Amino acid sequence: VAATTIPEPTNTKPIMNSTVTPVDIETDGPLFPSSLISPEIISILPTDYTIRPLRRSDYKRGYLDVLRVLTTVGEISEDQWNQRYDWIASRNDEYYMLVVCDGQDNIVGTGSLIVERKFIHSLGMVGHIEDIAVEKNQQGKKLGLRIIQALDFVAEKVGCYKSILDCSEANEGFYVKCGFKRAGLEMAHYY
Ligand code: ACO
Repeated sequence: VAATTIPEPTNTKPIMNSTVTPVDIETDGPLFPSSLISPEIISILPTDYTIRPLRRSDYKRGYLDVLRVLTTVGEISEDQWNQRYDWIASRNDEYYMLVVCDGQDNIVGTGSLIVERKFIHSLGMVGHIEDIAVEKNQQGKKLGLRIIQALDFVAEKVGCYKSILDCSEANEGFYVKCGFKRAGLEMAHYY
């Protein structure tokens, strides 16, 4: 895509303070402020379902199993989880990972937004939507749509001027229903 065809961002000012909020590991607090979860999205979930920021204790609520519908996860011990969680939590103005829980407090869906800070576009910020997954027997209930809408809400609130993602052809229809449109081409170099 020629640089001249890229629309100028209209939203380049972060609304949130860029200081990382310390995470209280002792109390198993949310990965990022719960005020960034759209109240409207919470209100239209199926009865007894909730959507909230990831927590350290979500290892025990089946977080990794939900990701297994997406790709291979590997065997990750609780210690390994905690180490990675703490690394992510120390960057909680960059990593916004959320979960959907059912009425029994099991995790049934997840999605992540990673916020990239740029020099271009007047220090613009771009959201990268990653690792969207809804447990197999919970698919088709609009949970995937709600996860994307919730991540869009976070992205806009923290000051991103756009969000982008890569997906397979098979999932294009889903993302079109979520308001995304095809833009460019994904390329990969595996190591
Ligand atoms: N193709 C076309 N339309 C679809 C697809 C699809 N693959 N999946 C869902 N839709 C439609 C639904 O029919 C619905 O349409 P409607 O509003 O007309 O009824 C709309 O999209 C919303 O669907 P949801 O019910 O919200 O979808 P669901 O909760 O099942 O989640 C998801 C969709 C996340 C793709 C789920 O099927 C899943 O977890 N798949 C396996 C993992 C995966 O492929 N994740 C995406 C990887 S790409 C990435 O992470 C950036």
